[in-house]
Parts: sequence; structure tokens; C-alpha cells
Amino acid sequence: MKRFIQQLPKVELHLHIEGSLEPELMFELAKRNGISLPYASVEQLKQAYQFDSLQSFLDLYYQGAQVLLNEQDFFDLTMAYFKRCQANNVVHCEIMFDPQTHTARGVDFATVINGIHKAQQQALTQFNISSELIMCFLRHLDEADAINTLDQAQPYKPLIKAVGLDSSEMGHPPQKFERVFALAKAQGYRLVAHAGEEGPAQNIWDSIELLKVDRIDHGVRASDDERLMDYLQSQQMPLTVCPLSNTKLKVFEHMAQHNILTMLQKGICVTVNSDDPAYFGGYMNDNFEAIADALAMTRENLIQLSHNAVDASFASDERKHAIK
Ligand code: HPA
Ligand code: ZN
Repeated sequence: MKRFIQQLPKVELHLHIEGSLEPELMFELAKRNGISLPYASVEQLKQAYQFDSLQSFLDLYYQGAQVLLNEQDFFDLTMAYFKRCQANNVVHCEIMFDPQTHTARGVDFATVINGIHKAQQQALTQFNISSELIMCFLRHLDEADAINTLDQAQPYKPLIKAVGLDSSEMGHPPQKFERVFALAKAQGYRLVAHAGEEGPAQNIWDSIELLKVDRIDHGVRASDDERLMDYLQSQQMPLTVCPLSNTKLKVFEHMAQHNILTMLQKGICVTVNSDDPAYFGGYMNDNFEAIADALAMTRENLIQLSHNAVDASFASDERKHAIK
């Protein structure tokens, strides 16, 4: 099965580029930029990667991102991720980035997006890996900050396919961002939002009905609501599920309890993704292997998961046809 997973062409739709910052690169960039980390070694940092909730992870994730200062840093970060894509036979990916994490520290929006974009161009020519960018708003910050970020993105609009919503789900429901999502939709962006990761199924309904998203990121709590499960199936609303993230953040205690196979068998458009692979212990193949093992999946299940990701992607019809 391991070989089958390796050779299966894959599409990744839920990946935070800041969450692909491996400890080794974090230390290298800290040194390059003269930033001191509160850890003596890579090993000590890795020891700290033990989470009991989304927030316990986010605290380290935002701390780690502080080593990213210059365009070259964002290029190196993104290129390192594309090398993992190549090794994992990921042929298309949709990369999320959190501009507010950087602009709040005085790093220009241009620095962030130019570094990422140059890596995207190189990945296309060097590895034939296509990609899109998703700009996420941090939901723990206010609406005005999100609108300001949308304004800053204006000159780079051709480089950004979609906007999304991430960070702390508890206490920051979709309603808070109804107006900024309406503005983004009017400007022609596709829309996604994290919902039903730790928060209730109602957040999935509200992301669909109020934010008018094209996909739900995570969405595993949908199984608490039978009517929502039927709706997701009938509308073929995609869920970008992240199995290793869910067990690391204790959304499910054990992978054997994960509901991705149940949802797949119900005909829901579920996909497999790595979320923050440097923090959660695995890239795409590791995520596929983890669910295949724990849930005794068939090859047909795995192929269906991969086809779902092609269908759910924001790639052009031409590109979808080429990779399916
Ligand atoms: N959930 C919410 N916000 C995030 C995540 C996540 O899994 N990863 C990075 N930011
Ligand atoms: Zn995520």
C-alpha cells in the first residue's frame, strides 16, 4: 500500500506555508536574520511540539513564523515545501498564507507574496507542479484588519486565487467576517474557510450560508449533524480534511476513530491534506498512509480521495484534465 500511495498522483488543497517551516530551516533563518529562538537546539524545539488543542499549536506556529523577514526567506520556505511535493508526487497544490502574521511585525505584504510567487514559478518550470495561492484572514483579529488586508492584496490580485479564514475557531464564528467575504467575492476571489475543526457543525452551515464558501477546510464536525451530512453530499461541497492534524490537535484521540472513510462512503467530497506538516509530523504520503492503515482503506478509496481533490481544486479545467 505504501508504494501505491507514493505513486498515486496527489493534489493538496489545505496547506499553510508557515506550517511547512521545518525546525532545521527555522534555526537557519533565525541565524541568518539575527533572531534568537527560545530553544537551544532543533531537538529541544521538536520536543515542544506536543499539543492538546488548536490554540496550543497556534501559539508555537505564530512564534516560529517570526524568523521569516525577507523575500528570500519566503522563497526558501516555499521552495522547501515544493521539494516535499515532488517527493510525495503532489502535482498540484493550493497554498494558504497568513499575511497578517507578517505585516503585524513590519514585514511588507510585497515581501511575503513576491517570495512565495517566485517559488511557485520555479516549481512549475522545474518540477511541473502547478499551484494557486489562498490568502487567509486571521479570525482572532477584527473585521477592520481583514478588510485592510484585502485592500493591501489589491495590487497582487492576479497572484491570489482565493481568500480563506484560519486561526482560533472558538469565539470567532464565521459571522464576524460576513462583510469582508462579500467584498472578496465581489472582487472575484474564490472563497474557503476553516470550520468544524474544533468548532460546532453550525460553523459549517454559517460558512456556507453567510460566507458563501466554495470549500470547507476541515469540516470533520459535520458528522454531528445528519442533515448537514446529507446537504454536503447533495451539493458535493468539498471538505479539505487533515488527518494527522486532527490527531495531533486531539480532534480525534486515535486515527481509528477518524470519520473520513465514513464520509467518503456516504459520497461526500472529502480530500486528504497535511495542514501544517512541519508541526504535525507528516506530508501528503504520511497522511494517506495513516488513514489507509488505521481505517483499512482500499485502493479504490484512495483513488477516490485523490480524484475528489482534483474536482475540488481551483485549477483550470485544462489542468484538471491533465492531472486526473
Ligand atoms: N486551524 C486553524 N488555523 C490554522 C490551522 C488550523 O488547522 N493551521 C494553521 N492555522
Ligand atoms: Zn488549516
